Amino acid sequence: MFSINNILRENIKNLTPYSSARDEYQGEASVFLDANENAYGSPLEQAYNRYPDPLQFEVKKRLTEIKGVPPRNIFLGNGSDEAIDILFRSFCNPGVDNVILVPPTYGMYQVSANINDVAVKNVPLTEEFQLNLDGIAEAIDEHTKLIFICSPNNPTGNSIDRTDVETLLANFSGIVVVDEAYINFSRQKTFIQELTEYANLVVLQTLSKAWGLAGLRVGMAFASEEIIEVMNKVKPPYNVNEASQQLALQALANVDLVNLWIKETLQQRDLLVLGLKDFDFVVDIYPSDANFILVKTTNANGIYDFLVSQGIIVRNRSKVELCEGCLRITVGTPDENNILLQTLQNFK
Ligand SMILES: Cc1ncc(COP(=O)(O)O)c(C=O)c1O
Repeated sequence: MFSINNILRENIKNLTPYSSARDEYQGEASVFLDANENAYGSPLEQAYNRYPDPLQFEVKKRLTEIKGVPPRNIFLGNGSDEAIDILFRSFCNPGVDNVILVPPTYGMYQVSANINDVAVKNVPLTEEFQLNLDGIAEAIDEHTKLIFICSPNNPTGNSIDRTDVETLLANFSGIVVVDEAYINFSRQKTFIQELTEYANLVVLQTLSKAWGLAGLRVGMAFASEEIIEVMNKVKPPYNVNEASQQLALQALANVDLVNLWIKETLQQRDLLVLGLKDFDFVVDIYPSDANFILVKTTNANGIYDFLVSQGIIVRNRSKVELCEGCLRITVGTPDENNILLQTLQNFK
């Protein structure tokens, strides 16, 4: 059975978190001489001279309206990459613990593991890009703390079978991280609804993809109150800056526009698939639940280099296990997609 105390690092259990100036008073105040800020202002139109809300309450309140998850179950990070790193730092003892990854998948899990000196047990996806549950069960040992599942998966684009993820959640006594960076483009339901069911579930989402805010660096983790408390304790005090909080809040008022873009992206994805199918060098296009497609080709390096020479950048994934010969192509605007297709006509 999952118990947070069984998997929390001892030093984190005993950690006294940094107490910021604004944490230490209660009540109303109008004169703030506590945080060594510049009281005169900032040399910008917007006043950024004050430290931001460390727990980003206004943004969380809005996310609660959109996602139906209370603020106490939401962590905000400097991108979801920060949430990934904080999970390692909270739960994995360097040089002792391990995590399970299911490649091909998002590269930052491995990098974060390496940075934190945490061993990785790789259990590759099946040929159908689904979980190898037997392999995962065999790989789990007493030091396995986290299993990362990316769904829809980057770079393959498919969603992972829901029942398989639930099997892991029900049987693994560590944390299952379901990274839903691309969930807005998916036909599948989010795992957020399962938070009340599974105490060992962490769902990651981001404002970097469908929300069009990659430059702001705002990522979300949804989890039990006790996991969120740990993550808040470990994070740097002001990890989401004031500009990002304000702009995220403004953007989150624009759900309709984002939904429109999602619809258009999905239409464009279908058109891109149709257009690419015609080329002799395209061997396969994998079904996608995301805003990108994985395309198997006869000559990934050649096509990649040719596109670069024409000023078009796609992602060459041909060296990745199970993705031999593959390029990952993000769905662009209609113009961008047409330029790509027209340019490819000239590839010999
Ligand atoms: C699966 C997945 N998770 C997380 C991220 C990072 O998101 P963020 O911009 O919120 O750090 C990416 C970015 O490509 C991604 O593909």
